[in-house]
This record gives sequence, C-alpha cells and structure tokens, in this order.
Amino acid sequence: MILSARELDPLIRQTIFYGKVFCFQRVDSTNDLAMEAASQGASEGTVFIANEQTHGRGRGGSFWHSDPDAGIYLSVILRPRLSPADALVLSLMAGIAVHNAVQSLIGISPDLRWPNDLLFGAKKFAGILTELNADADQIHYAVVGIGINVNQQLFSPEISEIATSIHLITGKSWPRTGLLAALLESLDGEYRKLSMHNEFSRQRPEILRKFESLSSYARRKRVRVHEGEGYEGTTAGLDDRGFLRVQTQNGMRTVFSGGVRELKPQA
Ligand code: BTN
Repeated sequence: MILSARELDPLIRQTIFYGKVFCFQRVDSTNDLAMEAASQGASEGTVFIANEQTHGRGRGGSFWHSDPDAGIYLSVILRPRLSPADALVLSLMAGIAVHNAVQSLIGISPDLRWPNDLLFGAKKFAGILTELNADADQIHYAVVGIGINVNQQLFSPEISEIATSIHLITGKSWPRTGLLAALLESLDGEYRKLSMHNEFSRQRPEILRKFESLSSYARRKRVRVHEGEGYEGTTAGLDDRGFLRVQTQNGMRTVFSGGVRELKPQA
C-alpha cells in the first residue's frame, strides 16, 4: 500500500509534524529532499517520506537499500538551537524514538549499537543518518533521516548476513502507516523534552542515560572500533556529549566519528 500524508496526518495531530508531511512514491533520497527544502526555508517538523529510494544514503557514504513498498524511508527537518559539536544527541534521540516505536508496536525490544544502528540480535534493521547545515557555533538546520526495514522478506547476498527486517523477526507483515505514526509520536516526545525552553544541555543527560540503558553496546562490550586505523577495546559508557568511551590496552579512548562492531570471544 502506498503511504499517504492524508492517512498519516490524523494520527499525529499532537505532534510538531502535523500538517507538514510530504509523501512520495519514488525519490533519490529523502535526506536530499529535506536538505534542499530546509535550505529554502522549510520549517521545523517538515517530514519527507518515500515509498522507494533510488539513491538511499547511509553513514560513511554507504548505500541504503530502499526497496519499494517494504521499508520506512523518512527525513525530518529540525532547527535546534544547538552547536554542531553537540549534534550527536539528535541521532541518539532518534535511535531511542525508533526503539520505542518498534517496541510499542511489536512488543520486542531492539538493541541500539552506538551511534545509530538498531539491531535484532546481531543483525541491523534500521539506521539513522543525521546531516547538518551549520556555522562554527550554531546549527541552522539538521535533517534526521531514518530507514527501517519493515516488510522485507529477502536481502541481497551481500547484506543478508548483517541485515534483517521486522517481518523476518516476527514472521508477518506490518502496516507501515501505524509504525510511522508511532515513530513520529515518539520522536516528537523525545525532541520536545530535549528542546524544552531551549535547554538542550540540561536535558541531554537524560537522553544519554536512556540510550545507555537501552543499548547493550554502551558498556562492557568488547568491540572493534572502525575509526582511523581501527582498534579494539571494551566500551565504557558515553561522555557528556554522547561520544562512546572505549577502554583499550593503552588507556581510555573516545570514538568521535566511526562505528563499532562486536568482537566475538575467540573459541
Ligand atoms: C545508516 O545506518 O548507515 C543510515 C541509514 C539511513 C537511511 C535513511 S532512509 C531515509 C533517509 N534518506 C536517505 O538517503 N538516508 C536516510
């Protein structure tokens, strides 16, 4: 079924996204649409949703598989009064929102892999790509792009070892509109708390604590860090901006831009 703003809007009346949803059949990338619209002055809360993306983008220049009719591909425009150095909290907040929406709908709690992958077991089913337009000390706008594998039943061989979907986990299809509404409700709730009275720094510790409590990766996980040359260590919580701390043989390090993968104990 095609996603439509007319169907979604009544379900998100109380949110900052109400009346600002634009659904498309096929686009290159909803993040591209949202970045362009934001540069033209589109307001906070504007949402772009596509039924299919031909050039869905992931972190680190990767491709986000965006088959028609199967997944959720959406991007929201935010205009937080936040410095770009503090922007990670937006991605962490979006991960929490996806977690809560999925858990409330299907009753299974996904894992969060820092900074913004959502997993069932060891396989990823959702990811977040946050992009910014900012000067040195102020974000002009942020686009938070979220991709969720909902009803995919098969993945191409190159990703089938690492990717899954809600359908593959639950054994049935899920209406995407219900999940979209739950996601936008949850995102609205988290963002309102975070941006209340423009007190991001006061609210941020709560987001970081929540992330840590929902993520098996935040602490005591043996990981390989994919940053620069790469290194190994044990995760040791988030610092006060949300960056991951990793205890290595040579001391504590902080992961600023890369990702992490679990290191399985050697047999
Ligand atoms: C990642 O895990 O690497 C991030 C994936 C983000 C994918 C979403 S789908 C909607 C939005 N549009 C894009 O081109 N990318 C994001």
